[in-house]
Amino acid sequence: MLPLFKNKLLLTEYIQSVKQNKQVVGLVPTMGALHAGHISLINKSCEESNVTVCSIFVNPTQFNEKSDFEKYPRLLEKDMHMLENTKCNAIFAPEIKEVYGKDTTQTIDADLGYLNLELEAKFRSGHFDGVVTIVKKLFDIVQPDIAYFGQKDFQQFMTIKKLVEYFEMPIKLVSCPVIRENDGLAMSSRNLLLTAEERAFAPTIYQTLNEAKELLDNKSIQEIQQWAEKKLSQEKLVEFEYFEIRNAEDLKPVNDITKTDELVILTAIRVGKIRLIDNILVKT
Ligand code: PAJ
Repeated sequence: MLPLFKNKLLLTEYIQSVKQNKQVVGLVPTMGALHAGHISLINKSCEESNVTVCSIFVNPTQFNEKSDFEKYPRLLEKDMHMLENTKCNAIFAPEIKEVYGKDTTQTIDADLGYLNLELEAKFRSGHFDGVVTIVKKLFDIVQPDIAYFGQKDFQQFMTIKKLVEYFEMPIKLVSCPVIRENDGLAMSSRNLLLTAEERAFAPTIYQTLNEAKELLDNKSIQEIQQWAEKKLSQEKLVEFEYFEIRNAEDLKPVNDITKTDELVILTAIRVGKIRLIDNILVKT
């Protein structure tokens, strides 16, 4: 049976015993409701590390809407079953108190600068403060050599890179490709919450990202962004948030494509009540 740790001290003891044998520890932080996207990170960690820990914790400080936190799917039994079928070595699934103590609102200040003002940060105030807070706590508890994240949350990966730099943590970060459903929809735990009609529309997000990529040959970035906004906004199910073409290195706006190595096209929309994000990378 895959060991399940709810207590951080017991997990720390386990990690210490593993590290005495000079084993490389990989960490895959998740909020559970696992799908093939999460499992791809687990598999990557199992390939590259000797011991893989998967954390499952729905982190209250990163939800800017209480209802989103409350309705977030919690499926620990099913998640454990999925992880049993991988080479994962341990699960860390603590209660909120175990991680935060009494103060479940306290966040750290890692000076994320520009990343905490733009795109996701504009629409989810405080979100990245919550993300870096929990990731820092998980890094302190697990002390991994390598930590695995998905490109799906592109800006999140960049904020975690900043966090590691800021605290000078000796942790290698690995970004893994987006895993998609057959129709192109990026896998997400929130997809479970879509109605049939919303689910039928959702693949339009990835289609629009790809169409935008094709348009880069003969339209300006601004024209493409306006075109995508119009296209997505005309759907009655959709509340549009952003569709932006940015420099993949720093997420800054692009003035001259020819001077940029790689672009990232990122979007966030609400389909019904569910907020979905996706992105694609484009080599120039
Ligand atoms: P969660 O949304 O559960 O995602 C956990 C990890 O899986 C993240 O690194 C995310 O980018 C990755 N992931 C999600 N969907 C993916 C997909 N379709 N393909 C590939 N990877 C995918 O992201 C979080 O949790 C939290 O913010 C967390 C980092 C755990 C902090 O609470």
